[in-house]
Amino acid sequence: MIKNVLVTGGAGYVGSVLVPKLLDKGYKVTVIDLYIYGENVLDSVKDNPNLKQVKGDIRDKALLERELTGVDAVIHLACISNDPSYELNPDLGKSINYDALVLLGDLSKKLGVKRFIYASSSSVYGIKEEENVTEDMPLEPLTDYSKYKALGEKYLLGLRAPGFVVLILRPATVCGYSPRLRLDLSVNILTNHAVNKGRITVFGGEQKRPNIHIEDVTDLYVKSLEYPDEKIDGKIFNAGYDNMKMKDIALAVKSVVSKKMNKENLEMVTTPTDDNRSYHISSDKIKRELGFEALRSVEDAASDLCDAFNAGKIPDSLNDKRYYNIKTMQAVHLV
Ligand SMILES: NC(=O)c1ccc[n+]([C@@H]2O[C@H](COP(=O)([O-])OP(=O)(O)OC[C@H]3O[C@@H](n4cnc5c(N)ncnc54)[C@H](O)[C@@H]3O)[C@@H](O)[C@H]2O)c1
Repeated sequence: MIKNVLVTGGAGYVGSVLVPKLLDKGYKVTVIDLYIYGENVLDSVKDNPNLKQVKGDIRDKALLERELTGVDAVIHLACISNDPSYELNPDLGKSINYDALVLLGDLSKKLGVKRFIYASSSSVYGIKEEENVTEDMPLEPLTDYSKYKALGEKYLLGLRAPGFVVLILRPATVCGYSPRLRLDLSVNILTNHAVNKGRITVFGGEQKRPNIHIEDVTDLYVKSLEYPDEKIDGKIFNAGYDNMKMKDIALAVKSVVSKKMNKENLEMVTTPTDDNRSYHISSDKIKRELGFEALRSVEDAASDLCDAFNAGKIPDSLNDKRYYNIKTMQAVHLV
């Protein structure tokens, strides 16, 4: 029975939506995070007696040993989260995204953690011609970020043993509102620009991008603590809602923003791009084997972001560094 959960990166974009859901379900939650995007992102639950927030680094062995003691399940989210921020300092990226994963995996197994859930990424596949990219296809990661995600999966799967269950999730690009908001992800970028610049720029447009709403992906992490061992042990699952062309994502965002923000003259500009990478994943396996289906659309994500803009929850969204991983990491001298 899982009771105590450690969430690394629990103060990030995904983590700050996930942690309140875990607390609502009655789990005791420990968050380890550097809090580089703000100390207050979990303020809505900070007085919950079941939450322990630890400001620290997952590369710190003594800290991991201390905080892993008594933990039943780990949800491993902490990482340097996108390709460009990784490339600014590849050694730092590797030390957090791979070396610390090895340490965390080893210690988790040694200290009696029963279940380890890893946030990998659908970018591990690279570009594929096939319409439905399934979990059994070879990985052809194009960047260090994706390469270490793939190596991390392999390492963790190698640690599997009776009593140490490993689940690998490969989510699509996440979209929608979070108290620690990222505005460097495709749907969120387009919505921010539509609302605050009155203009959407689409680079290329024919490339496909799979998406998943933040409420869906966080529901999935919660459910990952509930599925029986035999359904998830050693398994890998893609998780996405839809594979849409960038130009269709832009049109969906445009339509939502026009209606919700009363902006009738939104401009949509298409410019050529060198980056024609097209990702399209199949999420059939997770539906078939776990009964999980993402329910919310890109329109829902854009609509939720509009509500948050209207409520004044996203101040200075074009300039404040905290919405942009690279700018924040440079500002705190992490890279
Ligand atoms: N956001 C997406 O579109 C997406 C898609 C697929 C997979 N993922 C994966 O999901 C996870 C969460 O993504 P996110 O968008 O919430 O990212 P994020 O950058 O918002 O959150 C990562 C968190 O990890 C923390 N962190 C970084 N290095 C750390 C360290 N050394 N020690 C402790 N904490 C550290 C950061 O402070 C941050 O709060 C990541 O592993 C990411 O690769 C994200």
